[in-house]
Amino acid sequence: MNIFITGGAGYIGSHTCVELLNAGHQVAVFDNFCDSDPEALARVERISGVRPRLYQGDVRDLDVLTHALRDSAATAVIHFAGLKAVGDSVLHPLNYYDNNVLGTLCLLRAMGHCDVKQLVFSSSATVYGDPIELPIPEKHALSANNPYGQTKLVIEKMLRDLYSSDTSWRISILRYFNPVGAHSSGLIGEDPKGTPNNLMPFVAQVAVGRREYLNVWGNDYATPDGTGVRDYIHVVDLALGHVKALERLQSRTECEAFNLGTGIGYSVLDIVRAFEAACGKELPYRIAPRRSGDIAVYYADPSKAKKWLNWEAQRDLKTMCEDSWRWQSTNPLGYG
Ligand code: NAD
Ligand code: WQD
Repeated sequence: MNIFITGGAGYIGSHTCVELLNAGHQVAVFDNFCDSDPEALARVERISGVRPRLYQGDVRDLDVLTHALRDSAATAVIHFAGLKAVGDSVLHPLNYYDNNVLGTLCLLRAMGHCDVKQLVFSSSATVYGDPIELPIPEKHALSANNPYGQTKLVIEKMLRDLYSSDTSWRISILRYFNPVGAHSSGLIGEDPKGTPNNLMPFVAQVAVGRREYLNVWGNDYATPDGTGVRDYIHVVDLALGHVKALERLQSRTECEAFNLGTGIGYSVLDIVRAFEAACGKELPYRIAPRRSGDIAVYYADPSKAKKWLNWEAQRDLKTMCEDSWRWQSTNPLGYG
């Protein structure tokens, strides 16, 4: 298959390029590098032996996007491009509606112009808001606590409305839990700009000496050790979920949402201990007040993806930490 990947130079996109190429597909990447580095694609080539074809542009530029999609001759799209920092979305909500919602609208118009009607979309477990049921099934009520989450909800609704209006579309909405880890080669991984918002890259930067200590945001939650519990999923497992979703769309017209998680919850302190074991060092941390907007516990019910996509996460927490450490220790400054 020939697949067009928006945001393909980013963290999840670059790992997905590798897994698609490994599976024998062709990929074309469309990215404006606002949150990534072209070096990631050179690394994809080092791993897979194939350099993805690159179109540099912004998904909100409909003409450029339509031209690139047509030129690529792709038959399916995976849409990663977007902004993802929750705190920043509270400070700059319009940037998020503009990039994420308008960007997706332009993409759907470009796909319509080119008669490409297969789409895998990056949604997020954030669409479940504060969960009222654990593990969280796809039929759980949807809500959002911040503008970033709201953009994912709006886009999901837009996709369902589009499918209702034209059932020849084939759409897979993948709701990721907490992606972590890196490719086992250590060549590609997460490279956040500035101070990391997410736990695992922050811990990795403490381990490599870029940060003095970790702030643990709250130890008074109703969890076994008082710290927040999440469903961490290895980015390679996540990437493989996209390959499975595309395979399913070959034989179905539908618009369906799937959780991509492991179904297992780990606390912040579980992560610190597992990372210490992976890097062989003690990691300094301090208990700090709760982070505003944080939820105590969430983890996926991944059974729908297992049944419908024939997909299940394989990599455990030890592998997630070891791979993350290999990436961070061999690339202490990321791609830069
Ligand atoms: P990332 O920032 O590493 O990758 C996003 C990519 O999109 C980058 O290469 C960036 O340059 C590109 N991009 C952004 N805006 C663009 C635009 N207007 N035009 C063209 N390219 C643009 O993020 P990621 O972690 O790989 O996330 C990918 C997707 O998955 C995002 O949609 C994100 O919301 C979603 N998601 C991520 C997580 C997570 O924790 N990483 C969790 C759930 C969902
Ligand atoms: C995990 C746990 C923190 C940093 C976010 C988005 C979500 C999705 C994934 C995109 C929590 C604690 C963290 C630190 C800490 N992204 N923590 N010290 O908040 O579950 O989810 O990323 O869709 O939408 O909200 O992930 O990695 O930020 O936090 O103690 O320096 O680690 O309080 O319990 P989160 P996270």
